[in-house]
Amino acid sequence: MDQQDSADRDKAAAAAAAVAEVEDGMLVGLGTGSTAAHAIRLLAARVADGLRITAVATSHASAEQARAAGIRVLDFAQVARVDLTIDGADRIDPRLFAIKGAGGAMLREKIVAAASDRMVVIADGSKYRQAIGDASVPVEVLPFALASVAARLGEGAMLRQVGRAPYHTDNGNPVLDWNVTLDDPRAVASRLDAMPGVLGHGLFLDQVDAAYVAQDGVVTRLEQ
Ligand code: 5RP
Repeated sequence: MDQQDSADRDKAAAAAAAVAEVEDGMLVGLGTGSTAAHAIRLLAARVADGLRITAVATSHASAEQARAAGIRVLDFAQVARVDLTIDGADRIDPRLFAIKGAGGAMLREKIVAAASDRMVVIADGSKYRQAIGDASVPVEVLPFALASVAARLGEGAMLRQVGRAPYHTDNGNPVLDWNVTLDDPRAVASRLDAMPGVLGHGLFLDQVDAAYVAQDGVVTRLEQ
């Protein structure tokens, strides 16, 4: 099995562990990305077997996948509270600090996480570090504020592009991938939270309640 197949198998194993937590009657938050896509697929299989749930999605792609697989997806604008959100991450550490947003959905993901009684991260072992820090932090910016926010973040901020065109999130906003030292993640998050024009960012420091990390088929549960 090559490395990619083995990572994909681990993503599916972590997703299966989290999907096992879903109970009848729950309103489930669906994350975004390739690991979350496994969770959506496995959840749809349980729905086909009779599990009764509704869901909200953190991206158009996840909503489409879920609906196509037979999961009833509600408009999050009409939803105040979610029981359990299952989502991927780009980095996760033992403190349950995470970096998210390589897929560009971090703003919606954080809004849904904040409305959730529980947020569970699922990841293959390549995402696990003793401390988050070696991935850049995605920052979603109001288009009006792009140049001023980029100037405040400094040289480490790179405009995310798709080919030669600027990338836009589902919300229609550009993303700056900010290469920043994360010795003090809370100070970095506070700085971003206070910056006019920053709509959201990928540092999840208080949202994650538990994580399933799978390495070589072995799933480890991390909890606060
Ligand atoms: C999207 C995210 C994803 O959950 C994160 O990028 C992990 O993606 P993948 O499971 O494809 O590695 O935060 O905004």
